[in-house]
Amino acid sequence: MKLVHTLEDLRAALQPYDSPAFVPTMGNLHAGHLDLVRTAKPLGDVTVASIFVNRLQFAPHEDFDTYPRTLQADCDKLATEGCDLVFAPSEKDLYPEPQGFKVQPPSELADILEGHFRPGFFVGVSTVVMKLFQCVFSQAKGPRYAVFGKKDYQQQMVIRRMVQQFALPVTVIGAETQRAPDGLALSSRNGYLNETEREEAVQLSLALRALARDALAAADGLPAHREGLETRAMHALAARGWQPDYLTVRRRVDLQPPTAQDAVTAQSLVVLGAARLGTTRLIDNFEV
Ligand code: PAF
Repeated sequence: MKLVHTLEDLRAALQPYDSPAFVPTMGNLHAGHLDLVRTAKPLGDVTVASIFVNRLQFAPHEDFDTYPRTLQADCDKLATEGCDLVFAPSEKDLYPEPQGFKVQPPSELADILEGHFRPGFFVGVSTVVMKLFQCVFSQAKGPRYAVFGKKDYQQQMVIRRMVQQFALPVTVIGAETQRAPDGLALSSRNGYLNETEREEAVQLSLALRALARDALAAADGLPAHREGLETRAMHALAARGWQPDYLTVRRRVDLQPPTAQDAVTAQSLVVLGAARLGTTRLIDNFEV
């Protein structure tokens, strides 16, 4: 496996290949990331992972400075999974001058849910992903694949919409969320939890599963009862000491609330949630 830091070295390393399969990450890799690499491997003629903690997607009060940087351990794990090439640029490599051009995703998709609680987050994500696609795919002649985890459900939708609206020659593949044996979605931020919090953390996924059950049980009454069910789910989590940002039932197609015109079927909905446990903010979701 080759590790490169500069765009020049990345392009030189990609020269012999036609069809990269790409996994963008911010490092501090866990089994969920490695599953993305396994998904990517059969798709292209070279498997590329990037490791870059992207300042643009962090608000000033968020954990950019403390986000774990574990390059050597990450490279060891990627090598074990058979990743071919790791692109780990420094900030100067990726943003040699302040990134004035930004990708502005559509408000109705990017200013709700995560975007509401983390203003600017999806501008930062879209901008870096557009740039990373440019770095990794610009010389490719064959199919180009990029793999994203469904744990970041809204992020994946934003990226898909970006690819579609900019007619980028990239196929986005969604990989299922990987979970710990108790059901907690794997996340780099789980590492911030202390022992007691780690035991409690699975309650977010349990609350979302209960909300999904309630949503299906409400059937055609869901549009009328949705807010009540969501409030009840958030109160239940808050009673356990969490600070929920949202627990909500949405249409899979556009993440808007289901309306009376929508037939409520098992395939049409997704439940999504974000909540803080102590100082750690966790997110999770389930397709209903
Ligand atoms: O999901 C992530 O780790 C990041 O948001 C991504 C896609 C690597 C962009 O920085």
